[in-house]
Amino acid sequence: METIHAIEWMKQIARENRVHERILGLVPTMGALHEGHFSLILAAQRECAPVVVSLFVNPKQFGPGEDLNKYPRTLDADRAALEALGVDYLFTPSPQEMYPPGFRSAVVVEGLSDRLEGRSRPGHFRGVTTVVLKLFEIVQPRFAYFGRKDAQQARLIRQMTADLNLDGSVVVCPIVREADGLALSSRNVFLKGEDRRAAAVLSGSLAAVRDEIAKGERDTGRLLAALRRVLATEPRVALDYAEIVDNETLEPIASLRGACYVLLAAKVGETRLIDNALIEPDGDSFRVTI
Ligand code: PAJ
Repeated sequence: METIHAIEWMKQIARENRVHERILGLVPTMGALHEGHFSLILAAQRECAPVVVSLFVNPKQFGPGEDLNKYPRTLDADRAALEALGVDYLFTPSPQEMYPPGFRSAVVVEGLSDRLEGRSRPGHFRGVTTVVLKLFEIVQPRFAYFGRKDAQQARLIRQMTADLNLDGSVVVCPIVREADGLALSSRNVFLKGEDRRAAAVLSGSLAAVRDEIAKGERDTGRLLAALRRVLATEPRVALDYAEIVDNETLEPIASLRGACYVLLAAKVGETRLIDNALIEPDGDSFRVTI
């Protein structure tokens, strides 16, 4: 595996691969890699060669009071894991390389970026889409892999690639979970003791929605009430938002129709986590994927 820090060198390699008509895959990450990231890499390796993993803790997507400085950084372990997986290139630029003095531009996906996570974390998605557009321009991937764990992020990036006529296709992969249902996240290392145990209630609350749907419930108000009842059993968990939204517009819906998401964010102790389930029509009923 070759580690690349310089944007110009990464662009040079991308150009060479294009000339040789190789199918280059990109997996953007902020490091502290776990099985969720690895699942994206394996998906990329099934469809692409070479595979580039980018590792960049993007300061622009962290708000003033957020955890940029304490975000987990485990570069040596990450590099070893990527090496073992047979990844071809690790692209890990410095913040100065990505945002040199005088940097002034940004990309905003209007509307979709103000809701849900965007409402709780103003400016977050502006930072995400800006860095992802830069990564797409630098690496020029044919396919880029994202997790459904961050469903709103994936939806925004899909919109951006369509709106800006980007060449790469966005592939969205399933959520990888721990045995108790907790979605893997780089921030899970902050969950100690009781918080770690309590965090399983997030996916438990999504399972309650699934169970209510299986019983025939279609009203999203009542489905969300069932979700809140489960979360309320854990005093360590403080809900930020829980909504059932159309999968395209991300607008709340009153009763189930078409494909939609249950999206939630909650604090478990001091750690803020997000989770979601995908609801899709399945004959006369709905299939719920947690
Ligand atoms: P990061 O949180 O490191 O996540 C990188 C990718 O891994 C994202 O597409 C995310 O959805 C996916 N991922 C994380 N946990 C997962 C899980 N449990 N199962 C499946 N996929 C999972 O998301 C970011 O970084 C950044 O915002 C980034 C896109 C890199 C831009 O800075």
